[in-house]
Order: sequence, then C-alpha cells, then structure tokens
Amino acid sequence: MNNIVQALNLGKEYPLPDGVLRVFEGISLDIIQGDLVAIMGMSGVGKTTFLNLLGALDKPTKGEILFDGEDLLLKSDKELAGIRNRKIGFVFQFYHLLPEFTTLENITFPLLIRGMEKRRAQEIALEMLREVFLEDKAQIRPAQLSGGEQQRVAIARALVNEPKLLLADEPTGNMDWKTGQAILELIQELHQKKGLSSVIVTHNEKVARFCHKVYLMESGNLKLLSLP
Ligand SMILES: Nc1ncnc2c1ncn2[C@@H]1O[C@H](COP(=O)(O)OP(=O)(O)O)[C@@H](O)[C@H]1O
Ligand SMILES: [Mg+2]
Repeated sequence: MNNIVQALNLGKEYPLPDGVLRVFEGISLDIIQGDLVAIMGMSGVGKTTFLNLLGALDKPTKGEILFDGEDLLLKSDKELAGIRNRKIGFVFQFYHLLPEFTTLENITFPLLIRGMEKRRAQEIALEMLREVFLEDKAQIRPAQLSGGEQQRVAIARALVNEPKLLLADEPTGNMDWKTGQAILELIQELHQKKGLSSVIVTHNEKVARFCHKVYLMESGNLKLLSLP
C-alpha cells in the first residue's frame, strides 16, 4: 500500500500568555493513496489544527510528518510553499476567494504562482471551471455567486494544479444541507476522477457518510470508527 501522508505521534501546543494550550500530544494517522477520509469531532477538539499540520500550513510541536515520502520538518518555508502549491489542494468553510478578482482569475492564480504562462493558465483554469459546472460564471466576482457556487470555485482552485492530496475543512459548514450535499457529491466525483487522496474535516456526521473511513477526534486522540 502506498502512503501519501504518514503522521507519526504528532503533538501541537499553542503558546498562551500564561503557559501553553496542549491541543493533542501523540496522534498518528496514515493516509493511503485513494483514501477518502472524514475526521469528525466536536468544535474545539483540534480538527483544524491537525489538518493544518497535514497540509504543511503549520508545524507540530512534536512528531513527524512524511508527505509523499518526504519529511516535512526538514523543509524550508520556501520548499513548503512549493509543496502546498503543487501537491496539496485546500478547501475552507468560508471559501477564502479573493473578492477583487473574477472566478477565472481566482482559479488561475495557483498556476501563475507555479510559473505557468498566462494564456495557458487561463485555458486550464477555464477547463477546471467546466469541471465544477461554472464555465458561464468565469467573469463574475465571488460576491455575485451563491455560497455553493463560491465553494465550487474554491474546489476548482484547489484542484487546478492537480494536487495529490485534497484537504477540506468544514467545506459545507456555511451552507444549507441540500447545497452541502451537492458539494460533497462534487468532491466525491472529483476525488474519484482525479485519483486524489482526500481528508474532510467536519462536525457533521451526515458529511462523514460520504467518506470511506471515518475517524473521531476526541480528548487528544484519533479513533477509527468504520472501514468500508
Ligand atoms: N493559533 C492559535 N493560538 C492559540 N490557540 C489556538 C490557535 N488555533 C486554535 N487554538 C485553540 O486550539 C484548540 C483547537 O482548535 P481547532 O483546531 O480550531 O479546533 P476545531 O477545528 O476542532 O474546532 C481550541 O481550543 C482553539 O481555541
Ligand atoms: Mg475547525
């Protein structure tokens, strides 16, 4: 079996004015290529913290993370930025689209950052916009889109560089269930089609039903709830 991520004994503390907040101290998780994983747990248990470690957005206080065989803790900030740009797609609860730019421009940025020439980047971004069924909204700004549409743009942006890993933090947390279901179906479809490994963080067990493996984060531990 092929591990895309191996998290070994991860611990994370945040400094507080009068000490530290220990969120967890010894979580291990293997994400195998093709896995569609849900991480559930109550608000405040550390789901976002853990996802940020997997996605190289933050560093653990202890432990080790191998991403695609590479030790993330040995990488410089510049190397980590490259790994995030090329190999990891992020989707957030509040979309985090750039409001001053059109949907097409939002999706083009990750390609420009990796050094692609503008015309080619626009072609690929438009193709990606088709894959989320929004090609007719290419020239529109995020504020003119519904929440579900903004999330579809965010998914297109996350996947435009053909990452290996998709990390989604409460991707349906800001929308009604019907819209959320459509977003989850889209994630499922693209996960399959693009051969992704994906992790969806959620506090909603209905979301977890879309995944192959479900983990529960509770009092600093990660427990596997079900296998396919
Ligand atoms: N940057 C930070 N500095 C200090 N404390 C933080 C920071 N980020 C999160 N926390 C705290 O860490 C705990 C876990 O937060 P988080 O990972 O956001 O949980 P979840 O995503 O499960 O709701 C919470 O108590 C939160 O207040
Ligand atoms: Mg969170």
